[in-house]
Amino acid sequence: MTTLTPVLTANWDQPDSFTLRGYGDYSAARKALAMEPDAIIQAVKDSGLRGRGGAGFPTGMKWGFIPQGDGKPHYLVVNADESEPGTCKDIPLMMANPHSLVEGVIITSYAIRANHAFIYVRGEVLHVVRRLRAAVQEAYEKGLLGTDILGSGFDLELVVHTGAGAYICGEETALLDSLEGYRGQPRLKPPFPAVAGLYACPTVINNVESVASVPSIVENGAGWFAGMGTEKSKGFGIFSLSGHVTRPGQYEAPLGITLRELLDMAGGIRAGHRLKFWTPGGSSTPIFTDEHLDVPLDFESVGAKGSMLGTRALQIFDETTCVVRSVLRWTEFYAHESCGKCTPCREGTYWLKHVLKRLEKGQGTEEDLSTITDIADNILGRSFCALGDGATSPIHSSVKHFRDEYLKHFEIGGCPFDRAASTVWGNA
Ligand SMILES: Cc1cc2nc3c(=O)[nH]c(=O)nc-3n(C[C@H](O)[C@H](O)[C@H](O)COP(=O)(O)O)c2cc1C
Ligand code: SF4
Repeated sequence: MTTLTPVLTANWDQPDSFTLRGYGDYSAARKALAMEPDAIIQAVKDSGLRGRGGAGFPTGMKWGFIPQGDGKPHYLVVNADESEPGTCKDIPLMMANPHSLVEGVIITSYAIRANHAFIYVRGEVLHVVRRLRAAVQEAYEKGLLGTDILGSGFDLELVVHTGAGAYICGEETALLDSLEGYRGQPRLKPPFPAVAGLYACPTVINNVESVASVPSIVENGAGWFAGMGTEKSKGFGIFSLSGHVTRPGQYEAPLGITLRELLDMAGGIRAGHRLKFWTPGGSSTPIFTDEHLDVPLDFESVGAKGSMLGTRALQIFDETTCVVRSVLRWTEFYAHESCGKCTPCREGTYWLKHVLKRLEKGQGTEEDLSTITDIADNILGRSFCALGDGATSPIHSSVKHFRDEYLKHFEIGGCPFDRAASTVWGNA
């Protein structure tokens, strides 16, 4: 039985966890500032840490792409935009333990030789913005940020910048455009941000949890981190259980844990109900069913079963939930958040939403099922950024696993999960 590994969440139940006094004395940053920057990059490579923002790109390797001795300013940008439906780990992390992020920013910036760092945080979460700013202020007051940090000769300015509530601004290059003051739309790659990122200078963009994991690696060593998880997905991560679960919340555990094990710790599906479907990593990852309870939640195993680990946002739905309705709600989100830059996503998400609305009302036909699959096929792999691809995940996976439920809608001329129709479908 895999057990929890509280590191980032270890002090969340302490009343002063978000203050410097409650956090500690930045011992990892002190240790790092006495090391060679390249030795820190090597330690992060050796730890096997992979990006916690969804794609799982090796963090140390990303840092290693930053050209050195190029005479240009380097930047670190922390992606704290967290807006994917179901994803809810960075916001509580920054709320309860903002200093782990600030300490991670100091170490990462030192390693990549950046003297300016930004935390781009979702603007709607004002309580988190205030808490982050208070933590940054505390760090400045203690000489942990600013000029000649702890007498090391290293200077770092850290700015907390608020976004304006667009999901696309979590895509790393759209985020950079937004940070520069432009409308947030993805940039063409290459050049990649490591070469031409913020203000056309070498830039590392990392997720909140990725950066916040760095102090523990410096403190305890790469071997300690690599000793957890699986062969290719090392370490621990925050698994966010939401929906029809007895005790929803954040469960920090080694990668490779299964949903069955997590549900055991979370008290199971809510009383009297059973698991119907779930997302392993947020709404952009193909849905799983109760057949997948024992799939190890690591990048490789989830991929091998046709989905993605994504952000470990485990949204759990029991048998009272209409799949078609859930897919419609997610699709409405994608249609609303599509930035409009490319045709397959802009037009495709619009039409998906309209055909799904018809299907959900029971006014569709079997041909509509082919239509939504066809539209999704024309978005997947043909869009400018991963938002478009993500929008197709709920469509393809729900038609694959729950085709009968779609058919039932137009057979009975309505949603079988509506109260009036519940006896027909057996969901009273
Ligand atoms: C539409 C869209 C939204 C995204 N939103 C976020 C986000 O809120 N936070 C995040 O860390 N990554 C997000 N990403 C992934 C980033 O583009 C990028 O891969 C990530 O910040 C890299 O950090 P990591 O290597 O530490 O995971 C998003 C990607 C897309 C396509
Ligand atoms: S895929 Fe969607 S969000 Fe991405 S660039 Fe195209 S229109 Fe914009």
